[in-house]
Amino acid sequence: MRDKSKPGPSETDSSVNYLDPKAQSRRDFLEGTGAAVVATAAASSLGVGVASAQESSRSARSAISLTVNGVDHSLEVDDRWTLVEVLRDQLDLTGTKIGCNRSECGACTVLMNGQPVYSCSQLAVWADGADVRTVEGLALNGQLSPLQQAFVDNNGPQCGFCTPGQLMTATALLQDNPSPTAAEVQSALVGNLCRCSNYNAIVEAVVAAGDQGGAA
Ligand code: FES
Ligand code: FES
Repeated sequence: MRDKSKPGPSETDSSVNYLDPKAQSRRDFLEGTGAAVVATAAASSLGVGVASAQESSRSARSAISLTVNGVDHSLEVDDRWTLVEVLRDQLDLTGTKIGCNRSECGACTVLMNGQPVYSCSQLAVWADGADVRTVEGLALNGQLSPLQQAFVDNNGPQCGFCTPGQLMTATALLQDNPSPTAAEVQSALVGNLCRCSNYNAIVEAVVAAGDQGGAA
């Protein structure tokens, strides 16, 4: 369960855009969702209206349209759902992982309008109209992308849990900088943690992909 008492990482980290497209910060996001919890708790302590408060929370839904890996989707979502919940639970795109669920590990990284974002900290409604790319969108016609192949060739995954997020951040890097140095890769991937500590192999894989022509 998310621990809201601990501070999150700096929102100025250049490797991942923590801000949603409509300029609402993670603090705003947490405060907004926290308000719903507090309202329900207050109703409970007063002994009135708990069912109605919960029903009100459940009934806040919005229709959104977004493109995921080149496929258009129109769906109705709870306003509280995060983007990663919609990707995994509504669209069955389970390649995107949930690690910390609080903007710390990068396992949930996807590209939104070409920029890496933590999809655990983006509300699905913020993705209305967006072009989203997940790890499932990297391979083309059954062929791994050069970056994916470089991960295989350089033993980039160990347990593999962080790999989808690493791949998406590295894909964004290679689009902007097709031949990054090891130092540039390390800097770009600073927001993607690897509990297996396989960082050297991951950096080598991204550098190798650059040497072989980039991410596409
Ligand atoms: S699951 Fe999103 S940053 Fe960890
Ligand atoms: S390969 Fe296991 S967490 Fe990175």
